[in-house]
Amino acid sequence: MIRASRFAAAALFAAVPALAHATEITVAKTSGCGCCVAWMEHVEEHGFRAEGENVAGGTLVRRKMDLGVPPEMASCHTAEVDGYVIEGHVPAEDIRRLLDERPDAVGLAVPEMPLGSPGMDFGNRSEPYAVHLIRPDGSTEVFARHE
Ligand code: CU
Ligand code: CU
Repeated sequence: MIRASRFAAAALFAAVPALAHATEITVAKTSGCGCCVAWMEHVEEHGFRAEGENVAGGTLVRRKMDLGVPPEMASCHTAEVDGYVIEGHVPAEDIRRLLDERPDAVGLAVPEMPLGSPGMDFGNRSEPYAVHLIRPDGSTEVFARHE
């Protein structure tokens, strides 16, 4: 029996390597936010595990400030992954690059909610947007551009 169950566990992990190594992203959002849920689905499709937490609007604003998100970088949800803050509709590929490069930074932000960013897909309407890197002193620089 023991041998059989060990085999089953090994087979399970072999079958779902992405799940076995999924990095967890915690996502603070307000309860009515549909685009937040759509963004969580996007990151889960790219191998992360997203855990949502519904908070009041005022609590969310305070959370952003406490985590070092400059007001002009603010979006809907505020996520945390592996010591970094992810503000708004940041593509999963940029989160991966952040975790690979591990710069000295607060994290990444896509301010407001650009059409066509992950979780903000409405038909084929889209607009160019930038992903910003937030430095510990609150300054920002462009991390990636998406057309
Ligand atoms: Cu949103
Ligand atoms: Cu959101």
